[in-house]
Amino acid sequence: MKLTYLGHSVFMVEEGSFKAIIDPFLNGNPSSPVKPEDIKGLSHIFVTHGHGDHIGDTVELAKSNDALVITNAEISKYLSEQDVKVHAMHIGGRNKFDFGVVKLTPALHGSAIPTENGPRDGGNPCGFVIEVNGKKIYHAGDTGLTMDMILLEIEDIDVALLPIGGNYTMDITDALRAVEFVKPKLTIPMHYGTFPVITADPEEFKRKNKISDTRILNPGEVFEF
Ligand code: NI
Ligand code: MN
Repeated sequence: MKLTYLGHSVFMVEEGSFKAIIDPFLNGNPSSPVKPEDIKGLSHIFVTHGHGDHIGDTVELAKSNDALVITNAEISKYLSEQDVKVHAMHIGGRNKFDFGVVKLTPALHGSAIPTENGPRDGGNPCGFVIEVNGKKIYHAGDTGLTMDMILLEIEDIDVALLPIGGNYTMDITDALRAVEFVKPKLTIPMHYGTFPVITADPEEFKRKNKISDTRILNPGEVFEF
């Protein structure tokens, strides 16, 4: 599995013919090395919640790539009204797709979708456990530390993508506790440094993380496992 970090909470996930992007905030993302028009051949898009820095360029990318969007029911409804192909799921739900298995995990956060007519209800925010060819990642989305994360230990996560930037999500202290709960083999920190209010030092997270390996990715960098 090939993970490409595109800054903030944006990851490309590739395994065989499966080519997905999670939370595609590219336009307006000061840390993204690419623009939506640079991205070709996407099969799937995952959206954790409705905030602009996560739903991002979903509509444009879904249409230009004819990609299927996997997200919660409320965001699915919003996107389907814009002629985007969607597969609606909800918190705790697991589904087998042709590429693998997806489970929606709880996130402690908001999910309002910014629209021309003001904010719209985006349902519950979520994270994703995505398994393809026996390789399993957990993208936490935007979330505070929750006791629910203990339940993820049984999932045998290979790589956890966890926010560390604080203010809107877990900070380094809480993300370290999340690693203790989830017990992934490796953790990649995300959702830091994009804006001044979420400044955090990933090296501090790496130094203090005694539970899993840590890999810090600069935007554009790739990790394969
Ligand atoms: Ni958010
Ligand atoms: Mn966010």
